[in-house]
Amino acid sequence: MKLPVSGRATVTAAVAAVTLLATGSIAGAAPAPEPGAIAAAPDIPVANVKAHLTQLQSIATANGGNRAHGRTGYKASLDYVKAKLDAAGYTTTIQQFTSSGRTGYNLVADWPGGDTGQVLMAGSHLDSVTAGAGINDNGSGSAAVLETALAVSRAGYHPTKHLRFGWWGAEELGMVGSRYYVNNLTSANRARISGYLNFDMIGSPNPGYFVYDDDPAIEKTFKDYFTGLGVPTEIETEGDGRSDHAPFKNAGVPVGGLFSGADYLKTAAQAAKWGGTAGRAFDRCYHSSCDTTANINDTALDRNADALAYAVWTLSS
Ligand code: TRP
Ligand code: CA
Ligand code: ZN
Repeated sequence: MKLPVSGRATVTAAVAAVTLLATGSIAGAAPAPEPGAIAAAPDIPVANVKAHLTQLQSIATANGGNRAHGRTGYKASLDYVKAKLDAAGYTTTIQQFTSSGRTGYNLVADWPGGDTGQVLMAGSHLDSVTAGAGINDNGSGSAAVLETALAVSRAGYHPTKHLRFGWWGAEELGMVGSRYYVNNLTSANRARISGYLNFDMIGSPNPGYFVYDDDPAIEKTFKDYFTGLGVPTEIETEGDGRSDHAPFKNAGVPVGGLFSGADYLKTAAQAAKWGGTAGRAFDRCYHSSCDTTANINDTALDRNADALAYAVWTLSS
């Protein structure tokens, strides 16, 4: 709308009145955030994250016990996530690819609005191995990213940056889906991604709290959150480049992420600071048939989901 000069003065007065309200100078006015204030990240309800895991378990059970690339359980998982996002107002895109002679799919969900020249992404792989349902690896990351995306919609959060969420296919075949996504971005669109946050195994039953040692600003954001909880973290060293952040990092995108441990053993020092069992794997069911809904530590899942939301909010404002 083009305003006449006199109209501009009216708009200025209206803005001043709103500012007066926002600063709480009028008695009885409800507290409102300062103009430009960073909206507080929500506490992600872990029960909601677990409800998604229950659905992914049911999908596996109904589809031969897994959600692996090229199997019916994978596409059913993708359809479940997509339906939730569509209902919440996301613009969703399915990207199809072929690997080992079977069709695979990525799901990408864009939250309308924000500066598309600065895109913050969060993602996780949605496929399991064929041995089992893959509830910790990687229903946990997939469900937490989904619930964070739904929380953005519930909060009506409209950050400065544009938000995009991704669920990758065929990670277990060597990060095939995420590499396909990155390779098919134009260089201009790749340059628009200001950060990629990865979540692969975040509810391990004998958990550790590992933060990827990568982009310093992303790493600090996660560490700050855990410091606020009073939970010590360690730098993730189990497998740099072993998940979907690797293709983004190789393309020059700043990356970070969280991990609660796979087949490595928890040391005595780690058990002393985090609890759990020393001399036992972080996840004894890694890549096996017992990676079911019983293979989740609720506290780890809750803390990591809340840290995910905190990072999405903080890094996109
Ligand atoms: N899906 C990964 C894999 O099978 C899980 C994993 C193992 C991982 N070690 C990791 C993920 C370290 C992130 C960081 O290899
Ligand atoms: Ca929570
Ligand atoms: Zn994984």
